[in-house]
Amino acid sequence: MQARQPSARQLKLRDLVDAMRKLGIAARLGEAHPGNVSDARGAALAILSPDGVFLSSNRSAAELLGYTSAELVGLRLLDMAAERERASLAAQLSADPAREFAPITTMLTAHNGRPTLLVLHRQPIAANQAQQEQHDGQAAQLALFEEPLAADAPPADGAHLSEAVARDRLKYLMIGQQRERQRLAADLHDGLGQALTLIKLMVEDARMRLRRGQAEDGAQKLDATVLQIRETIGEMRQICGELRPLALERLGLAAALSTLCRRVERSAEGLAVNFRCEVDDRDVPDYLKADIFRVAQEALNNIVKHAAATEIRLALRRIDTGVLLTIQDNGTGYDTRPLSSEDIGSTGLGLAGMQHRVESQGGFLAVHSSDTSGTLVSASWTL
Ligand SMILES: Nc1ncnc2c1ncn2[C@@H]1O[C@H](COP(=O)(O)OP(=O)(O)OP(=O)(O)O)[C@@H](O)[C@H]1O
Ligand SMILES: [Mg+2]
Repeated sequence: MQARQPSARQLKLRDLVDAMRKLGIAARLGEAHPGNVSDARGAALAILSPDGVFLSSNRSAAELLGYTSAELVGLRLLDMAAERERASLAAQLSADPAREFAPITTMLTAHNGRPTLLVLHRQPIAANQAQQEQHDGQAAQLALFEEPLAADAPPADGAHLSEAVARDRLKYLMIGQQRERQRLAADLHDGLGQALTLIKLMVEDARMRLRRGQAEDGAQKLDATVLQIRETIGEMRQICGELRPLALERLGLAAALSTLCRRVERSAEGLAVNFRCEVDDRDVPDYLKADIFRVAQEALNNIVKHAAATEIRLALRRIDTGVLLTIQDNGTGYDTRPLSSEDIGSTGLGLAGMQHRVESQGGFLAVHSSDTSGTLVSASWTL
């Protein structure tokens, strides 16, 4: 791969901020992938030379491609493209991003060999004369990488689905993804944002007391601050856990579900959650684990939100054809037709998202609800 000395150092922060702002606006107006681009926190950004050499990148961009930021510097985007995509990518890269805002969709090979479908948005960074001369009159580019939402990716079993059904499934998967993002953004805003503001106020208060010579008072305030920070760290772990259930990777499915059940039990007074797992973790393929976890999570959330139940039984067991997850509550139940598509829009999207998540892996979801025996959600997958 061709290496090159980074020249990003010469770029002015003001120009970079300006390019970032324009990129944000243009991406939103371009509108092909609105859900991802607004997620500025995790934005994967890099600065590319006009011919697509990485001059610098943030951690998100480097991680997306399986490198560290330092390793990525000097590598060429074109060298990461699959052989058959190279010519088309080269042509698209040579189009002037200042003239037309056109996202580039391409398949890149990450460092570990994993093919990664990415959408690349670019914005030229205003450059001074010297920089332009260095790059044959062209400016460096700020590049934003995004992974397309599921709706943009081909479905795993798309070949067997009618077009309308496939479109429908993808739509709900996409809505589900967006809702997860919104919920996480709200959690970050309401939980972490408020907690950090509180910590700042507490530290300022302690500092004021120390300056006034009230050492004991100041120390007490700092003790309270440490507790608050500990709580905030716990909260952050919980949010990270929701983003990608860490326990799932570290401890396996059974332990992650058990932790989830305990958390739900603690969150509502007078609620007992009974969990039974009769499945060996090694019998469940990795690609299904996150789905099983998410279905359990949504069903439990629904019970806490709507059912006024005192008891939940969550079970994961082997059946002849595969694996079965059941979540039974003894709550109020609700008008059935729970998975009727006519209801979508008038109620929430949790159940529809659940159904499409299960079906997109060839599974089956059923909900039975009555006002005498509560609600039973069962999801099965063929193994
Ligand atoms: N276990 C349950 N007990 C009682 N009612 C339930 C239960 N699960 C779902 N419902 C009812 O079904 C409706 C649809 O549930 P769904 O999960 O699709 O949406 P939601 O929970 O209202 O919103 P969202 O999940 O999108 O945040 C709920 O509004 C609620 O009235
Ligand atoms: Mg719900």
